[in-house]
Amino acid sequence: MMNVPRLSPPRLPDADATKAALRTMVPFQVRGRVAAVTGDAVTVQGLIAPLGAICELQPTDASPTLARVIGFDQSRPILAPLETITRLTAGDRVQLLAHAMPLRVGPALCGRVIDAFGRPMDGRPLAADLRRVDADHSAPDSLNRPPIDQPLQTGVRAIDALLTCGIGQRLGIFSGSGVGKSTLLGMLTRGTNADRIVIAMVGERGREVSEFIQRTLGSEGMKKSVVVVATSDKPAAQRLSAAWTATSIAEQFRDEGHNVLLLVDSVTRFAMAQRELGLAAGEPPTTRGYPPSVFNLLPQLVERAGRTEKGSITAFYTVLVEGDDHNEPIADAIRGLLDGHIVLNRRLAQGGHFPPIDIPQSVSRLQNHLVSPEVNAAVLKIREHMVQYENSEDLISIGAYRSGTDPRIDAAIAMRDPIGELLRQASDEQTPLIEAQQSIVRLASESSQTATAAHTQRRQPLENET
Ligand SMILES: Nc1ncnc2c1ncn2[C@@H]1O[C@H](COP(=O)(O)OP(=O)(O)OP(=O)(O)O)[C@@H](O)[C@H]1O
Ligand SMILES: [Mg+2]
Repeated sequence: MMNVPRLSPPRLPDADATKAALRTMVPFQVRGRVAAVTGDAVTVQGLIAPLGAICELQPTDASPTLARVIGFDQSRPILAPLETITRLTAGDRVQLLAHAMPLRVGPALCGRVIDAFGRPMDGRPLAADLRRVDADHSAPDSLNRPPIDQPLQTGVRAIDALLTCGIGQRLGIFSGSGVGKSTLLGMLTRGTNADRIVIAMVGERGREVSEFIQRTLGSEGMKKSVVVVATSDKPAAQRLSAAWTATSIAEQFRDEGHNVLLLVDSVTRFAMAQRELGLAAGEPPTTRGYPPSVFNLLPQLVERAGRTEKGSITAFYTVLVEGDDHNEPIADAIRGLLDGHIVLNRRLAQGGHFPPIDIPQSVSRLQNHLVSPEVNAAVLKIREHMVQYENSEDLISIGAYRSGTDPRIDAAIAMRDPIGELLRQASDEQTPLIEAQQSIVRLASESSQTATAAHTQRRQPLENET
């Protein structure tokens, strides 16, 4: 038999990747020199570069450092270093590298820990078949977004039963420091039925990052996850980029047809990083020192999540509320941008109630489009009991409430323990969505029986008297 050589057809370049590369590339050398350095802002003389462009600071006797254009002083670009600067002097060279942050993404990123530039942090090289994309692009068209009508399982009973989250919904997790935001995110990664998980750890402590990866995600969770890390010691521009990079990776997975869960911990540290950059670029400070650009950037970030014809990004953003003040400007702005908020309560955590979700204060704005009328009615009933108990708690705790005076308070007292039992959940325990919803319906029907029994008991002596 003749040995026929095998011909492999030529591989055509990927059109989208080529377009992204052409958009960001700089076809000839564009250079300038450092004119001034003020804090984290480097002003460059003689360089023409657009906002967001990536440049390289080239000190004569130290290794080059990446920096990003964040504003202009008259016509001179102001750069924020993306890496820690070791040495820089006025007159050092600056070279324009790309018009936007280039990023390489693809399915092979699953299981990897990368930095804000998409470089591996786990000591292994990246796969060769990643596509080049532009990390900075706009949100999908609002009119081309299908409605959110399917629930996403989170595995957390309190959320699935009482704050059901839809595929493509965006929610905030709000609390003061150390109440349990990151632990709740960890529970979501273990209990969700999303196809892919992208986690942005923005401004976290280094210890927390390795703990999250090793303990919370574990090798099983890592298989379908990508973790993007910029710890608190990294320059503000790098911390900011981590959230954009994670969002771009999630978008890529969404375009491949997946249901993606995007977790950003925390969006407050993202806002703080932009505060640093905005002030360095000469913006005026407004409420709590935040410059106006912070409030422009937040909607751009969260609008990139959501559902499209191809797939979905369901996003959870943690919000650190300084001094437990839920009306501080970032918390307020984010609450208005999202489709729901989950408030964690320090008092519940101190009482050992985990996850410490404050149900009456939390809301999933799309819940009634996602669950059956039966579940919806049960949710309303259980919420009513919780609010009733909260309103009467002072009276009950000092013993001023006499049982039998108000049937609604009696029912709220009777249901307090069963509700608490359902909502408490160990961080390594997961419950399927359907089971959580069945439990809430069962609990609501028990509560009706309890209320009827309490009412009958109360009526009995009156009837005997007549
Ligand atoms: N579900 C839980 N079960 C048991 N303990 C918990 C749970 N959630 C939180 N904790 C306790 O609360 C501590 C702080 O939790 P976590 O780090 O998640 O808070 P955080 O709100 O993310 O804090 P920070 O604002 O500092 O990021 C944990 O170390 C743990 O002791
Ligand atoms: Mg945390």
